[in-house]
Amino acid sequence: MVRQIAFMNQKGGVGKTTTAVNIAAGIAKAGRKVLLVDLDPQAHATLHLGVGTSSESDAQRTPTIYDLLLDPAVTLESVVRPARPNLDLLPAETDLAAAETELATETDRLTRLRNAIDKAQSNGAGYQYVLMDCPPSLGVLTLNALACVREVFIPMQAQFLALQGVGKMMQTVALVGRTVNPNLHVTGVILCCHDSTTTHGREVVADLDGFFEQARGTDVPWRNGRVYRPVIRRNVKLQEAPSFGQTIYEYAPKCAGAEDYGALAVNMVKEWDELLARQDASVVTRGAARAAVKA
Ligand SMILES: Nc1ncnc2c1ncn2[C@@H]1O[C@H](COP(=O)(O)OP(=O)(O)OP(=O)(O)O)[C@@H](O)[C@H]1O
Ligand SMILES: [Mg+2]
Repeated sequence: MVRQIAFMNQKGGVGKTTTAVNIAAGIAKAGRKVLLVDLDPQAHATLHLGVGTSSESDAQRTPTIYDLLLDPAVTLESVVRPARPNLDLLPAETDLAAAETELATETDRLTRLRNAIDKAQSNGAGYQYVLMDCPPSLGVLTLNALACVREVFIPMQAQFLALQGVGKMMQTVALVGRTVNPNLHVTGVILCCHDSTTTHGREVVADLDGFFEQARGTDVPWRNGRVYRPVIRRNVKLQEAPSFGQTIYEYAPKCAGAEDYGALAVNMVKEWDELLARQDASVVTRGAARAAVKA
């Protein structure tokens, strides 16, 4: 089973890209095969990993996710770039902004990314994690991500106004879930740039924990959600790393940002391994029960 996560928040500048890149790199460091999909025409994840795409003047364009979305004949394998050991990147470029309008009349416009990933996986791509960095809007690009994944993670900053937006965003995910992808769930909030020394910061975290607690046992798509720990502390190294085209583990491996994202990535791998082990065990148990009934 592949873990597929979209990092989504319609609000800009909340930490989506910083989180997607450093979680992807952290999971790859833990030895799992990861595909990071850059769905943002700002191409920040692509730049953060230091992967160059061609400029307009280049005679030979390197293909990007734009080509993949516009032409169903383009394969994922021909666009993906190896970025680090165990970490492949589906890069973006500024042209991607045009995809929204260029795809407007295509009936399969919301499932092109899903189809390309499914095809590559059945051809043996072998990704264990597919992580998507969404743009700060709910257009065709974000909807392509939401059509693929089972999980939505919401990176945010713990401020009262951000909190106000969370309920609304959950409703959006529920609506998209009903129309595009019924398997969609909000599994996590990641608090980026957090200051737990302030009373306000602590109060917002407690409110968020309460919000998810209240949803347990209901049928809303965030009933299994929670605030992931550790929260990510404010750390200037996280701001500096992208301009060097480096992940936080390469740029400043001992800083608070590397510690927090590293621990979060390890926790995510651990919880997924445990879930897979539980599923294996239940398959074995069901198999044994069937054998016993037959005997
Ligand atoms: N923990 C942190 N400490 C300090 N700065 C941070 C932290 N996390 C993110 N930042 C900085 O905040 C800014 C916004 O982060 P980022 O680009 O990840 O947000 P985003 O949600 O992807 O933005 P956009 O909506 O434009 O795609 C960046 O300059 C980033 O370096
Ligand atoms: Mg971003």
